[in-house]
Amino acid sequence: MSLPKTSIHGEWSSRLAFILAATGSAVGLGNIWKFPYMTGEYGGGAFVIVYLLCIALIGLPIMMAEVMLGKRGRSSPINTMQALAQETGRSQIWQLLGWSGVIAGFLILSFYSVIAGWALAYVPRLASGMFTVVSDLPTANAVADFVDTQFNALVGDPLRLLAWHTAFIIVTITMVAGGVQGGLERAVRWMMPALFILLLVLVGYAMSTPKFMDGVHFMFNIDFDKLLYSKGEFRYDGILAAMGQAFFSLSLGMGSIMVYGAYLPKQASIAQTTTAVVVADTLVAILAGLIIFPIVFSNGLQPDAGVGLVFKTLPIAFGQMPFGSFFGTVFFVLLALAAWSSAISLIEPAVAWLVETGKFTRLSATIGCGLAAWLVGLATVFSFNIWSDIKPLSQFASFEDKTLFDLIDYLTTNIMLPLGGLFIAIFVAWIMKRQIVSDEFKSSPNRLGFQVWYFLLRYLTPLGIGLVFLNTIGVFS
Ligand code: PFF
Repeated sequence: MSLPKTSIHGEWSSRLAFILAATGSAVGLGNIWKFPYMTGEYGGGAFVIVYLLCIALIGLPIMMAEVMLGKRGRSSPINTMQALAQETGRSQIWQLLGWSGVIAGFLILSFYSVIAGWALAYVPRLASGMFTVVSDLPTANAVADFVDTQFNALVGDPLRLLAWHTAFIIVTITMVAGGVQGGLERAVRWMMPALFILLLVLVGYAMSTPKFMDGVHFMFNIDFDKLLYSKGEFRYDGILAAMGQAFFSLSLGMGSIMVYGAYLPKQASIAQTTTAVVVADTLVAILAGLIIFPIVFSNGLQPDAGVGLVFKTLPIAFGQMPFGSFFGTVFFVLLALAAWSSAISLIEPAVAWLVETGKFTRLSATIGCGLAAWLVGLATVFSFNIWSDIKPLSQFASFEDKTLFDLIDYLTTNIMLPLGGLFIAIFVAWIMKRQIVSDEFKSSPNRLGFQVWYFLLRYLTPLGIGLVFLNTIGVFS
C-alpha cells in the first residue's frame, strides 16, 4: 500500500488554519476547568512546575511527532499507523496505537461533553443575573455557600445534566459532519481570539481583588511536599497527574493531533506550527490559574474544591464586577465553544477511519460516534448524583473514593494518553527510518532544532514517561 499524497477528507486552507484548529483542539476545558482544579488539588507551585516541564520536554516533542506522522500518513491514525509500519517493514501491530486512540477519544468525549454541559448550563444562569446577589451577601462564607449550593443543585439533578450533555453532543455532531473546512475551520477562526481577550479582562478583575498576590504565590511557589503529600500521607500520583494533564491539555497520545496533521498542507513547517500551539495552550492555562486562585483566596474558598472549582469561583467575579452578567454570559458561551473545538477533535480520528473504510458517509459516521459517546457519557452524568456511591475499585486504597467518572478520567488522562505518547515517541525515533522522518521536516529551516528534537524524542521523552510511571507504581519508594 503506497502512502496517499493528500487526505481524502480535505485539507486546511492555510498554515494559520491548522494552527487555529490545533489550538482549538488543545485549548478547552483542560485549560480552564481542569488545570486550575488539579493545581488546587495538588498544592500549587510544584504541580505547575512539573506540568510545565512535561509540556516542554515531553509534550512539545510528542506533538511534533504526531503532526509528522499525520502529515506523512495522510489518513486516520489507524490507517496512518498501518501504512507507516508497512513502509518500514514492521508489524501491523502498530495499528493498535490508532485503535487505543479511538477508544481513549470516546471515553474522554463521554465525560468531556457532560462537563461542557455544565458550562452551557451556566450561560442562562449568568444571563439571568443569578449571581449579582453575591455582592449583597454579608460575609465571604455566605458567598461561598451561595455558589456552592447553586453548583450542587445542578450536578445533583440527573435530568438537567442529561439534557445539557445531549445538547452538547448534538452540536458536536453537527460541527464534525461539516467536514474539515466547512465545519471545523469556521468554528475556531474567531473563537480563540475572543476567548483570549475575555481571559485578559478577567485577569484585570483578578488583579483588583485583595488577594491577587496570594493567588500568584500559590501558583508559583514551589513546594514539593504539597505535591507529594496530602494530609500528611504520601501520594504517588502527583507527578503522574501533572504529566497526564500535559497530555490532556495538548490533546496528545490519542491521534487527535495526528489526524489534524494529516490535513496539513504539504509545505507547512511542523516545528513552527506546533510551537505556536503549545505556547498558546500553556498561556491560556496559566491565565486561567491567575484568574481563579486570587478569587479563591479573596473569598475564603478552598483551592482544593475539586471539579466544581471554576463554577464556584468565576460566578463570584461576574457577580461583583461591572457588567458582570454580560461578561459572564459571554465567558461561558466561549468556554462551551472552546470545548466544542476540542470535542470535534476527540471524535475526528474515529470518524476519519469509518469514512476511509468506504462503508460510511461523513454524516453517518459522525452520528454513530456521537451516539456512542453520548451513551458512555451516562456513566458520568450519574456519577454526580444517583450513582455517586458507586466506587467500583473501592478495595484499592488509591482508588477507594473514585466514582465511575473519576475512573474514566484517570484511565484516559493518566494512563492511555501517556502510554499512547510513549509508543508514538518509540515509533518515530526508534522504528521509522531517520531519513524519512528528516524528510518530513524539510520545510523547517533549522537543522539543529531537528537534531535536538530527535534526541529528546529518542531518549529523554520515553525515559521521562517511563520514570513517571515507575515512580507511580512505587518502584522507587
Ligand atoms: N485538549 C483538550 C482540553 O484541554 O480541553 C481536551 C482533549 C482534546 C484531550 C483532544 C485529548 C484530545 F485528544
